[in-house]
Amino acid sequence: MSDRETSETASAVPQTLSRQLAAAGQTHVLASWDRLDAAGRARLLGQLSLIDWRQFSELQRLAAQTTAVLPPTIELTRAVTPPCLRLGAAENSIPPAVARARGEQALSTGAVGAILVAGGQGTRLGCTGPKGLYRVGPVSQASLFELLFGKLRAVRRRFGRDVPLAIMTSSATDAETRDFLREHPCLGLSPECVHVFRQHDLPAIDAASGRLLLDAPDHVAMAPDGHGGMLTALAETGGLDWFGRHGVEQIVSFQVDNPLAMPLDREFLGYHLLTAAEFSTQVVRKREPAERVGVVVENDGRHIVVEYSDLPGPLAAERLPDGRLRFHAGSIAVHAFTKSFLDRAAATADSLPLHLAHKSVAFLDDAGRLVTPRQPNAIKFERFIFDLMPLAARVCVVEIEPEQGFAPLKNPAGSASDAPEHVRAALVNHARRLLAQAGVSVAEGIDVELDAAGILDETDIHRVLSSGSRIEKPLVVGCDRQSPS
Ligand code: UTP
Repeated sequence: MSDRETSETASAVPQTLSRQLAAAGQTHVLASWDRLDAAGRARLLGQLSLIDWRQFSELQRLAAQTTAVLPPTIELTRAVTPPCLRLGAAENSIPPAVARARGEQALSTGAVGAILVAGGQGTRLGCTGPKGLYRVGPVSQASLFELLFGKLRAVRRRFGRDVPLAIMTSSATDAETRDFLREHPCLGLSPECVHVFRQHDLPAIDAASGRLLLDAPDHVAMAPDGHGGMLTALAETGGLDWFGRHGVEQIVSFQVDNPLAMPLDREFLGYHLLTAAEFSTQVVRKREPAERVGVVVENDGRHIVVEYSDLPGPLAAERLPDGRLRFHAGSIAVHAFTKSFLDRAAATADSLPLHLAHKSVAFLDDAGRLVTPRQPNAIKFERFIFDLMPLAARVCVVEIEPEQGFAPLKNPAGSASDAPEHVRAALVNHARRLLAQAGVSVAEGIDVELDAAGILDETDIHRVLSSGSRIEKPLVVGCDRQSPS
């Protein structure tokens, strides 16, 4: 929109936009225009001016396919699970101790940065704001943000260097995330080492008519463009250069809803560096065909993550002679990239494929009433980070045990899986395991938790609890010497 056009916004719809809406068959979004006040008109115009109208016809075309399945860019019948290194496994081609030493070196020279993707709407969980604020610490009641930021503080304490952190927010999470970080100054991280950036939105489209939906007279229903929006948004907001100024050469990415995530694990980083991978990724063993997890597959040296919904049933159920599923490398969205790879990929990030999701989206009906459908009525569009994988010259896949690093919070309490109670139990089990390794026992039925900022691994436990101690009451095991009971 030109300046002159913008200055006219209080009263009239800019001509360019009118033409674009008419050409796209979307003039219905202006149905309430005459009744909107100046603020409402400005809000609606602001939104409409951000829609890429050239891309819109492509969105409509995709939505009209009425299927969420995109043609796989890899020949699945010929694909295999790529060789995986296993965390801590002596038979790895690179000894774990060698990998750990290399990872430590990278962390102690400040060469590693991190991206936390926290722009999701958390609809399954029923979030009204950022999922990062959800309190899931089993004893501390700490939020996801506190638990995850704590891990970066623990790394700084051990290695003496900050891990610069870029946090991706969205229209759904941006304001509250920024407020929270202001009220609790960067949760103890150095403010100059935290970069908050916001991803783009894409419009939701009515599945039946291909039209934009209004969820208020002055508001089009939009949704964040998926975690794959990360790269474009990071580059546009100067985030890649920001990492460069901090001396970052390797960048890990992780998701806000996995408080066990270990993107900065020394051994993982070591494998990433020692295999000279441009893109490394953590996986957990997929054991049953019905598990709703994407899998890493390889064909002719190209790696790709295939979503569970895109993997045909018979292929998903196929087993190897040793009993493992043929496609068993379940993606958990913890990645490491070279910064130079992200610099290169940023140039093509816009061309990452759009994935379709059928969702229930509230909308105004023709009479202007807000309808909240029970069944999916709309198509949302998302890009995924893992679609960068085929662009990488070399990929390293590292298998971890779920109890080490995977406890996703997706569903509300009482759900069969990935609910708050499952996540809390996983955090307690994780603490119990590490405490047992450090020679500390815990009374039956007692909840324990490791202070994320205080305990990086079992060697930190010895700083606060001596071997042979026993914990008799709920405790957050932290960095200060403490009494177990
Ligand atoms: P999910 O795909 O599980 O989505 O996100 P969600 O928004 O958390 O939950 P639902 O699907 O609405 O119930 C996985 C990770 O990707 C981030 C989320 O914040 C989470 O860390 N994400 C997702 C983004 O950052 N942006 C997006 O557009 C989507």
